[in-house]
Amino acid sequence: MMPERVYLSPPDVGELEERYLIAAVRSGWIAPLGPEVDAFERELAEYCGRKHCVALSSGTAALHLGLLTLGVGPGDVVITSTMTFAATANAIVYTGAEPYFVDSDSSGNMNPDLLVEALDDLAAQGTTPAAILPVDLLGKVADHDRIDVIAAARGIPVLSDAAESLGAKRGGRTAASFGVAAVVSFNGNKVMTTSGGGAVLTDDEEFAKHVRYLATQARQPVTHYEHTDIGYNYRMSNLLAALGRAQLTRLDAMIERRRAMRIRYQELFGDVPGVSVFGTPEDHEDNCWLTAILVDEKTAGWSTADLTSALTAENVESRPLWKPMHLQPVFAGARRRIDGTSQRLFETGLTLPSGSALSDRRRERALAVVRGFLWGERR
Ligand SMILES: Cc1ncc(COP(=O)(O)O)c(C=O)c1O
Repeated sequence: MMPERVYLSPPDVGELEERYLIAAVRSGWIAPLGPEVDAFERELAEYCGRKHCVALSSGTAALHLGLLTLGVGPGDVVITSTMTFAATANAIVYTGAEPYFVDSDSSGNMNPDLLVEALDDLAAQGTTPAAILPVDLLGKVADHDRIDVIAAARGIPVLSDAAESLGAKRGGRTAASFGVAAVVSFNGNKVMTTSGGGAVLTDDEEFAKHVRYLATQARQPVTHYEHTDIGYNYRMSNLLAALGRAQLTRLDAMIERRRAMRIRYQELFGDVPGVSVFGTPEDHEDNCWLTAILVDEKTAGWSTADLTSALTAENVESRPLWKPMHLQPVFAGARRRIDGTSQRLFETGLTLPSGSALSDRRRERALAVVRGFLWGERR
């Protein structure tokens, strides 16, 4: 019989979430907005250190409306990280703009030096990008301080894709506090979930108002359904916001549990030649969303594919890092500034079970399979 599945990052939802959800159902506030949404927005804004929050149906919707609110549209160019999930680049395309991909530094995040080169490249062609959209990869916060300085010098707004980094910090600042606005995701695999959802966070009241307006079908404030803009149906429902409120009370504890697993991997791989845990113990502000290893095949004598086979045989999930956008067939023609770092990370990286919902038994099993692969008879 196949042993029980060990997933990378299953939703961490239990009794508290059940209680919040049932209370919301019983309150009668089902359709679709209500007091749970208002409270969730207040609490999330406070958690992230921002003045305003708009809760939406997904992180992708949040990126889309964030870009539209910055005025991004057809004919524009938006610079973004190549090392990301497709949602980031897709949202740019939804607006009619063109993504321009910039390669990573060793943390996997946008390399600020390459960003400067990209801006110079575009300037030489007479183009100023409409926005810069850096991504915080796997919960590691990008070098926003430098990116913000570079962007401000050229008058370009920054929208931060913090979908993976809720709860992380850099230099003591929360991930979602960077940029004109930041986007987070509550997809089922993230550090906290609303089963599906996202949010825009900003200090700019007008920005938040405009996102809220676009998310509710761009209805004018009159009773007879007057519209002067194209709108979207992107708001988060009151029931899911209740789930989010419960999750938010547990978020720091859930992150700590992920961090404990990161430390176990660091101990496990500490002395293994050719292997490094992606993110060091100094990355204490990382939210440890997914722990990945980087494998130098020549030194290690094995590849990530070998370890994946061993894990798969024992029903333990593992996955490569994101395949960079500039290598995706759908973005084959996109402009780019690439030095090969993200491709190397993609080819040598493997994410391992990291979720806070994984029971101790499942965690130990994942670690035991890796141990067996490294030192047992499996190889
Ligand atoms: C970097 C990044 N951006 C955007 C998204 C999209 O978020 P959602 O799935 O909530 O639409 C995700 C994850 O799903 C992501 O990892």
